[in-house]
Amino acid sequence: MKIYKATDYRDMSRKAANIISAQIIMKPDCVLGLATGSTPIGTYEQLVDWYKKGDLDFSGVTTVNLDEYKGLTKDNDQSYYYFMHSNLFDHVNILPENTHLPDGTEPDSAKECARYESLIQSLGGVDLQLLGLGHNGHIGFNEPGAAFEKETHCVDLQESTIEANKRFFNSADEVPRQAYTMGIKTIMQAKKILVVVNGEGKADIVRDAFFGPVTPSVPASILQMHNDVTLVADAAALSKMP
Ligand code: F6R
Repeated sequence: MKIYKATDYRDMSRKAANIISAQIIMKPDCVLGLATGSTPIGTYEQLVDWYKKGDLDFSGVTTVNLDEYKGLTKDNDQSYYYFMHSNLFDHVNILPENTHLPDGTEPDSAKECARYESLIQSLGGVDLQLLGLGHNGHIGFNEPGAAFEKETHCVDLQESTIEANKRFFNSADEVPRQAYTMGIKTIMQAKKILVVVNGEGKADIVRDAFFGPVTPSVPASILQMHNDVTLVADAAALSKMP
């Protein structure tokens, strides 16, 4: 595993965007696996900035996102579809038909997960997968205890996640109870993986995930078994590294 230590969030975002840019320049028709959440927002901002300056071309790029809430429509501002459009897709020259997320409006979980998994295979797999890291070591919606051998599947959100998300919705009833997510196996099949992490609050999980034992109770720890992982983290997130 390569570890790049960034001074702060801005530096982490620039370093991560540099790695993604290099991928796009070296393989203009690459498949990027993308993540939502607060951590990659600065990375997307940097990519948009370089695109606007004429330094990046997304016209050949295809994207597949890690996950999506089940039951949310695309125009819901809490959907990951909405997030990706407002943070990246609407600001660069990527072709809309080349951007993919699990379809949260498909009620048939088995059908949607099989469709998404075979879509990824039909694209030839993911060249570079971007990941954020949950405080409990989750990647995508693969929470502690998730089996390492799973492909794209539907997960029941934990009560604590539903409780934490309540504030973003008009009522508790609107909070999604389930999500579609790439499984650990899907993620591990990416040719390269780029993990972005920032902040002191993630220092314990960075230590456990990347320097502790590989165990399903820390889903991200499986990344130690992947042969091309790059961790870009700020000094605060790396402060408990052995
Ligand atoms: C997002 C995702 C999640 C986040 C993780 C970290 O698509 O799959 O696993 O990467 O929850 O979130 P932030 O970056 O908000 O700390």
